[in-house]
Amino acid sequence: MRVLGIETSCDETGVALCARAADGRVRLLAHQLFSQVDVHAAFGGVVPELASRDHLRRLVPLVRATFAEAGVVEGEVDAVAYTAGPGLVGALMVGAGVASALAYAWGVPALPVHHMEGHLLAPLLEDPAPEMPFLALLVSGGHSMLVRVEGVGRYTTLGDTLDDAAGEAFDKTAKLLDLPYPGGPRLAALAEEGDPARYRLPRPMLDRPGLDFSFSGLKTAVMLAVREAAGDDGVLAPQVRADIAASFQAAVVDTLVARSLKALKATGLERLVVAGGVGANRELRRRLATEVASRGGAVYYPRPAFCTDNGAMIALAGLCRLGDAVAGLPAMQARPRWKLDELAPPREPHVHH
Ligand code: KG4
Ligand code: ZN
Repeated sequence: MRVLGIETSCDETGVALCARAADGRVRLLAHQLFSQVDVHAAFGGVVPELASRDHLRRLVPLVRATFAEAGVVEGEVDAVAYTAGPGLVGALMVGAGVASALAYAWGVPALPVHHMEGHLLAPLLEDPAPEMPFLALLVSGGHSMLVRVEGVGRYTTLGDTLDDAAGEAFDKTAKLLDLPYPGGPRLAALAEEGDPARYRLPRPMLDRPGLDFSFSGLKTAVMLAVREAAGDDGVLAPQVRADIAASFQAAVVDTLVARSLKALKATGLERLVVAGGVGANRELRRRLATEVASRGGAVYYPRPAFCTDNGAMIALAGLCRLGDAVAGLPAMQARPRWKLDELAPPREPHVHH
């Protein structure tokens, strides 16, 4: 069984081929990524219309390159999976349209995939892969969630973001510090040179019951710290900037770690899966690894390249959902808003004898 995966929900065009071997193991055959960083950098953030146009430009060449890299004849797949949402509607429509057209031309089904399901299944591409059930900490540009995962399509949201997502907080703080887009990774790099104890920033929500997240108060606290630390010319000294970055990162990491430990305890689950762009953060990975291990649990991450948006996670999710494939002309889906809890387990794949 072989599935082509296509990701175009935001500012990365990702394409990959995944296969399931006879023993049930998943294998990644090839993956290609085109990042639109240079397209959006001048605007300080993602420009949706430019994103759509660039996906359209890159997608077919990337599909070709993926088949070539895998040494697979173009079209020799059992399905074409694509991100159907959530995301930018124009960007989603490009992926959905190209995927549906390819699937139709090749006579195979097109499979709409939920972007966050892709993220939370991504650690299954690694060795060792986490066994289900597990707790997933999903931290991306649009989401900060704790999800109980019993199986594919069996998800219960335990905690969600009440305002800004973790990645969004990184991006907005980066802007306050005049870092160019994409802010999150640049802020993390700057934080490595700073003193995380220099500024006492709030650890949002830790005094509150439940497992929800809120980062907008932290954003305000950073804004005040920046205003206070700036000289008369409004400019921050380089070390002050790095110290604010480090102090901010420490506050976010403390919050994510404390919430994850609380959720592990509340559910009795032992395995924690971390996924989504912020999962690439080195400080978060370091802290979770030690704190969860010291409590007898285990943490699983995708490799950093598969934390941020990529085609491999979509190909993998498609492989897990082959049972949902519908024969005939594919109905193209683009769903900018789509809740993870609405998903159901895949149907049993139809076996031909
Ligand atoms: O999963 P992703 O690639 O796209 C979404 O589905 O949103 O996540 C992107 C988010 C951005 O907000 C970005 O700033 C953040 O992940 N991010 C990071 C790091 N790398 C990406 N945040 C903190 N540290 C990083 N190393
Ligand atoms: Zn994502």
